[in-house]
Amino acid sequence: MILDRGRLGTLLADEERRFRGAHPRSLALAERARRSLLGGVPMPWMVRWAGGFPLFVTVGEGAYLTDVDGHRYLDLCLGDTGAMTGHAPAATVEAVRAQAGRGFTFMLPTEDAVWVGEELARRFGLPFWQFALTATDANRFAIRLARAITGRSRILVFNWCYHGTVDETFATLRDGRVVAREGNVGPPVDPALTTRVVEFNDLPALETALAHGDVACVLAEPALTNVGIVHPEPGFHGALRELTRRAGTLLVIDETHTICAGPGGYTRAHRLDPDILTLGKPIAGGVPGAVYGLSEGTAERVRTDSRLDTADTGGIGGTLAANALATAAMRATLEQVLTEASYRRTIPLAERFARGVEGVIAEACLPWIVQRLGCRVEYWFRPTPPRNGGEAAAAVDAELERYMHLAALNRGILLTPFHNMALLAPAVTETDVDRHTEVFRESVRPEGLYR
Ligand SMILES: Cc1ncc(COP(=O)(O)O)c(C=O)c1O
Repeated sequence: MILDRGRLGTLLADEERRFRGAHPRSLALAERARRSLLGGVPMPWMVRWAGGFPLFVTVGEGAYLTDVDGHRYLDLCLGDTGAMTGHAPAATVEAVRAQAGRGFTFMLPTEDAVWVGEELARRFGLPFWQFALTATDANRFAIRLARAITGRSRILVFNWCYHGTVDETFATLRDGRVVAREGNVGPPVDPALTTRVVEFNDLPALETALAHGDVACVLAEPALTNVGIVHPEPGFHGALRELTRRAGTLLVIDETHTICAGPGGYTRAHRLDPDILTLGKPIAGGVPGAVYGLSEGTAERVRTDSRLDTADTGGIGGTLAANALATAAMRATLEQVLTEASYRRTIPLAERFARGVEGVIAEACLPWIVQRLGCRVEYWFRPTPPRNGGEAAAAVDAELERYMHLAALNRGILLTPFHNMALLAPAVTETDVDRHTEVFRESVRPEGLYR
């Protein structure tokens, strides 16, 4: 089967015209924004949406967003996981409202922080916790601690990972060499000096890289999610743990996206045993907040090392970290929103989503597949699951992706602007999921994308 590029180009142009015609107010705001915001947006990723200009949002409520032109969208992007709980969850809103009247930030703890630390220990099995404002910061602090504890300079990441705007992680493999990731803006030093990179699921390469004895930590998502979902092969995590221990390297598991796997993330669902665990985005229901947890052994090494007095200007922490507002939001979110019951609802919805898309793929004989992790699900323009980031990145088809996203957007459904990912919020209904299936069918079927 061959993708009909001519036909795809025509379909995409039709969708672009339709989008432009339906969003005069967003278009006017986008044009105005170009005069005051660099690139016409307050944050560069916001130009990534298919359509040529971003939608300007008025309201997010549950699984839906409304834009300034009055269109209502089923939101399967959910702020790329920041709003995985659904928008404005009632318990979080109530806690934020109450805390707002009592002050936002004190550089002193509130009782909520203790509750959150206890709850995180219960969920993830790591006993000691610290707070940050973003997952990026949590990862940066974890790397600093790992370097300080081990006295080693390098870190190791998997090819095509993403862990936030952490300098050391913007490295990929090219012909077996570590190079700056394409688009890496102003790297402070050549990432080959700070970072070793191996393919996910490649245990011999991992063992060889660790054998240099200079790797402070492996920073890993337990399943890759940022180049699409790439699952670990059976035995991978056991070996990763054993190899890192043997090499004296700390294992940092980043659960920021894989929290979609369950209330204790992938770590709890698969009984992983990291030295440090990081988590941000949805933990406070979309209010900026992040955490990192230390195992008993790691905490002990921090406590007993007098150089690791992390107070003041040690490069760890931040004035607004653990502010009272975010901490109240975290408590309410963990206590009442991101609960077992919520996953009991969202994971079956994701299974239904996967079945629906798989059905259409089979009907239309498309060489595509569906991958799912908990309440996160996505379709791929390749016939088999990728084994690693390199294979996954090679399957990206920017034009096809753009068409599928815009076709969905024009029919009231938002996918993430990166790959074809859908997250299912608790407020999604089965009818919503089936509507996506219909839109997907309509997008791929009319005259067929393939010859
Ligand atoms: C796995 C992972 N870790 C960390 C981050 C960074 O999160 P933030 O941008 O909120 O700092 C991301 C963002 O996409 C992520 O996917």
